[in-house]
Formats: sequence, C-alpha cells, structure tokens
Amino acid sequence: MLSRLNGLAWLGMTLSLSWSVGAHAAGDGAPGDPALGEKKFYTCYGCHGVENYRNAYPDYAVPKLRHQHASYIVSALQAYKNGERPHATMHAQAASLSDQDMEDIAAYLQGPEPTKATSAVKGKTPTQVAACVACHGDNGLGVAAELTPKPAVIGGQHVDYLQQALTAYRNGRRKNVVMGGMAQLLKTDDDVRIAAEYFANQASPLTTATTHSK
Ligand code: HEC
Ligand code: HEC
Repeated sequence: MLSRLNGLAWLGMTLSLSWSVGAHAAGDGAPGDPALGEKKFYTCYGCHGVENYRNAYPDYAVPKLRHQHASYIVSALQAYKNGERPHATMHAQAASLSDQDMEDIAAYLQGPEPTKATSAVKGKTPTQVAACVACHGDNGLGVAAELTPKPAVIGGQHVDYLQQALTAYRNGRRKNVVMGGMAQLLKTDDDVRIAAEYFANQASPLTTATTHSK
C-alpha cells in the first residue's frame, strides 16, 4: 500500500512536470499534410504495413501505427532520431526524415479523427494499472483532458510490443521523463505482462497501416 501511495504522489509530480515539458513539443512547422504523408510512408509499409510483422532480435511485433495520435508519432520519430529511443532500424528511418516529413506522416497515420476515449472497458481493471488510467484511460485510448506530452494510444496495441516498451522504460534503455517513472510502478515482469495484456485486449481503432486501411 505504501508503495502505491508513493506511486500516486509521483504521479502528481509527473503531471505537473509534464506540462512544462510540453511547451516545446508543439511542432514549429506547417501542419501535416496527410496526402503527402501517405506518399512519404511508402518505405515504411515494408514493416508497418504487414500484419503481425516482427522485429527479429528480440522477437516482438512491430507496433500498429494507424490511428495513433499524430503528436505522439512525431515525438516518437524525434526520439529515434536523437537517440532517446535506441533502435538501429528506426534510427536510420527517422534520421532520413525532416520535421515536416514527420508532421505529414503523422497526419496521414492519425487520420482525420483523433482516437478518443470511449467508456466500454473489457475485463476487470487489474491493480497494476491503477495509476496508468489517469493518463491512458481505462481502455488505453486516452482521457478527455488535453495532456502534454500526449500519451500514446496503447489500447489494442500488440501485447508483446507493449511488454517490450514497458521493459525498455523500466531498465532505462528507452528514455522518457514521464514513462521512466511510471514504469517503475510495475515491480515485476509479471506486473508488466498483466498491464500489457490488459491494455492489448481492449477494443481499439488502432490497426496496422496497410495501403488500404482507412
Ligand atoms: C525494417 C522494419 C521497419 C521499417 C522499414 C520502419 N519501421 Fe518503424 N518500427 C519498427 C520497429 C521494430 C519498431 C519498434 C521499435 C522499438 O521497439 O522501439 C518501430 C517503431 C516505430 C514507431 C513507434 C511506434 C510507437 O508506438 O511508439 C513509429 C512512429 C515508426 N516506427 C514509424 C516508422 C516510419 C514513419 C517509417 C518509415 C519512414 C518506419 N517506421 C519504418 C520497424 C520498422
Ligand atoms: C502521467 C501520464 C502517464 C501515466 C500515469 C502513464 N503513462 Fe504511459 N505514456 C505517457 C506518455 C506521455 C507516453 C509517451 C512517452 C514516450 O514518448 O515515450 C506514454 C507511453 C506509454 C507506452 C509506450 C507506447 C508505445 O507505443 O510505445 C506504454 C506501453 C505505456 N505508456 C504504458 C503505461 C502503463 C502500463 C502505465 C501505468 C503503469 C502508464 N503508461 C502510465 C503518459 C503516462
């Protein structure tokens, strides 16, 4: 119980911290053009456009990108480019993109309607995710409040990708001021698995960005 309380105190800290961090997150360039983004995404389909395509070592599913939040896509690509997220292939991909390319691709992937929180929740919410829902919502689709930085849509994401992401935050390989702390609330590999399974199992518009996906 004590650690849970500490966790919630930490959450309060992180929330106030996250607002100041957000100031520079809004892109300076022109808003993304989805039609251009679709063309620029051409080289990405090879992995992200194939259902259940897998990263080789370690073995986990490549994340679903269709209907992910545009601002999160941009910040993820910037993090690969500047090394906050270590991944050789994605570093090479992101390094070849300009800020405007990222905005265009993100506008295409998100689509015209940002994913919104809905009320339907599948399954009993495990205690492991008690703190997570403040930002990700009960179903991993987000909350009505405008948080900056924008939390990723995690509802309906591949379970082993979520596990991989949480493990990388926990061991510090993936650096993020908000999630670095939050992932420490998951004390064991089992807690990570339970949280990942719960969110992956939620109904969600998140899908693989195939050439014909809307
Ligand atoms: C060779 C396969 C491959 C190609 C090509 C590729 N990606 Fe990726 N991408 C991955 C893998 C694997 C990950 C997960 C890496 C990790 O664990 O951080 C990823 C992660 C991402 C993420 C983060 C998603 C999230 O939920 O955090 C974004 C955004 C992304 N890729 C966009 C792109 C774009 C845009 C392109 C084309 C310019 C591209 N990718 C090309 C394999 C690929
Ligand atoms: C204070 C708000 C906040 C809380 C609480 C929070 N998150 Fe997050 N989460 C974020 C933000 C912001 C990001 C994007 C971070 C980044 O860019 O790496 C994120 C990203 C993630 C990702 C990576 C998604 C991807 O596509 O790579 C996972 C998985 C995740 N959170 C799970 C959790 C879990 C599980 C908990 C509870 C233990 C939790 N989060 C608590 C804000 C939060």
